[in-house]
Amino acid sequence: MIELSINIKGREKNYPIHINNVDLENLKQSILEEIHYKNYIVIISQKVHKLYSKILDFPKDKIYVLKDGEKEKNYQNYGKILDFALKKKLKREDAIIAIGGGVVGDLAGFVASTYMRGINFIQVPTTLLAATDSSVGGKVAINTKFGKNLIGSFYQPKAVFINVNFLKTLDEKQFKSGLGEVIKYGFIEKSCNFDNDAHLINFLTEHQEKILSRDVLILKELIKMCVELKKSVVEHDEKESGLRKILNYGHTYGHALEKLTNYKTYTHGECVIEGIFFALKLAQNLNLIDKEYKFLCEDLIKKYNYQPLLKFEKEKIIDAMLNDKKATENHVKFILPTKYATVEEYDFTPEELNEMIYS
Ligand code: GLY
Repeated sequence: MIELSINIKGREKNYPIHINNVDLENLKQSILEEIHYKNYIVIISQKVHKLYSKILDFPKDKIYVLKDGEKEKNYQNYGKILDFALKKKLKREDAIIAIGGGVVGDLAGFVASTYMRGINFIQVPTTLLAATDSSVGGKVAINTKFGKNLIGSFYQPKAVFINVNFLKTLDEKQFKSGLGEVIKYGFIEKSCNFDNDAHLINFLTEHQEKILSRDVLILKELIKMCVELKKSVVEHDEKESGLRKILNYGHTYGHALEKLTNYKTYTHGECVIEGIFFALKLAQNLNLIDKEYKFLCEDLIKKYNYQPLLKFEKEKIIDAMLNDKKATENHVKFILPTKYATVEEYDFTPEELNEMIYS
């Protein structure tokens, strides 16, 4: 059993992150204890509901099943879940429990952050991506036709329950998507302000086979390392005014690629990995890193069987990057590698990028 706790500056209480592989039969009881047996509703992914509703054993009348897919993170479902919570007469001291991947966590979390100006929120991530990244740190949001995550807030959960047993049934594509973010943590480790050395790059290199075969003990250790790094980052900078930006390594190009392929062709993690390849090239062109370090990073990524993705004309990519919510007027922000497991933020104009890209 691994127990971590997150201590966000200015908040009264730390919140716990439980990482374990105990029987899923016991999950409901642990959550009910955490919320002091108050009233609650469960927002659960359709896939997870199909596979686990019997064993989780939440009462049917408290369950709201959400279809799977990024497009479900929308206004309509936000309204429907709020209505469901109102119908169930939830009060502020009650709880909303999210069981699923990032879509469920983000949507249910955004409902929780606005229902009666904030109700207790419990995260139960069931994908590798949600366990290592989106369930920790309080970013919650919905999408609109203008873009992803444009309406949202920072709202920390009351507790996070990560049970690696859920990962056994995760499809290969989603598992690899999560690994994309995990590998990213390896490459930013030394910039995370974490007091100890996690040596995540070494861990990923040494345990590649066990990670890919989803060995439970190794996955628990891997998730712990990533959560410790994320914890360190969000404890220093909850609202992304500085340090938290490093989590966007691989994301500037990655988000542009997701946008240009209508969020359909590739998973988020695959696009992040492609974005890391792009950042490595950019950093080498700028002499920020040497070719040995670039090779080491590329070699690690290749061990996890990522294939090159579609390339777009540079004008299209630059345009998509300029329209990202993290870009400032006429500047694109990049997190780039500068030395082993270390990254820094850089700003480029479209003209500068135009000269550097694919050259
Ligand atoms: N997923 C990036 C962040 O939490 O800031």
